[in-house]
Amino acid sequence: MKLCKTIADLKVEISSAKASGKTIGLVPTMGALHEGHASLIGAAASENDITVVSIFVNPTQFGEGEDLDSYPRTLDADCKLAEGMGADIVFAPTAKEMYPSEDMTWVEVTGDITKVLCGRSRPIHFRGVTTVVSKLFNLAEPTRAYFGQKDAQQVQVLKRMVKDLFFNLEMRIMPIVREADGLAKSSRNTYLSPAERQAALILSQSLKKAEEAFNGGEKASSKLVEIVEAHLKTEPMSDIDYVELLQLPDLTVAETEIKKPHLLAMAVRIGSTRLIDNIILG
Ligand code: PAF
Repeated sequence: MKLCKTIADLKVEISSAKASGKTIGLVPTMGALHEGHASLIGAAASENDITVVSIFVNPTQFGEGEDLDSYPRTLDADCKLAEGMGADIVFAPTAKEMYPSEDMTWVEVTGDITKVLCGRSRPIHFRGVTTVVSKLFNLAEPTRAYFGQKDAQQVQVLKRMVKDLFFNLEMRIMPIVREADGLAKSSRNTYLSPAERQAALILSQSLKKAEEAFNGGEKASSKLVEIVEAHLKTEPMSDIDYVELLQLPDLTVAETEIKKPHLLAMAVRIGSTRLIDNIILG
């Protein structure tokens, strides 16, 4: 496996792969890789000739007071995991490489899709994501790009960007990978103390409650949200940022009675750690 720390190094690899007609799978990450990322890398390796994993803690998607400085940085372990899952190239640039000039060129998806859910409390987040992912698409020239359903809003925003900007690639979305007890895998789970880790189970448990109610015949969107909120509140360590049920794919206001696919998504603070989780109903 090759570690490229500069754009020039990456370009050499991509040009040679393209010249020999190889397909390229790109897995954009911020590192601190876990089994969720491993599933993306494994899928990319099985569906493409060359797999590129980017590892870059992207400063432009973090707001003031967020965890940019404390975000875990574990490049050696990440390279081992990526190689073990079949990656051919790890691209780990510096911020200066990715953002060479002080004046920024932004790629921004506007409208409600970036304003609801996480967009409410993280107003600049998706602009940072779409900007860096556009750069990565232009650099790695992927045939397919891999993202996890855990970041459900990010998935819909990026799909919109790909459609609107005519990026010539296939978006591949992989299911959420969970711990045996239901907690969705996340790089931020490492922030949790043992007691918080236990309390964090309330996220997946409350989604399950809604799913059971839905499968049992409850189709009223307000009732389903209520069920989730009520269950989250039974955990004293939880502090709800949002619980929302929205129509897919555009994240518009839910139908009163759910008849087609809706995203039920939440962000909840457990101590000082903000966790997200979701399921699709209907
Ligand atoms: O999902 C992430 O880890 C990041 O938002 C991404 C897509 C790598 C962009 O920095």
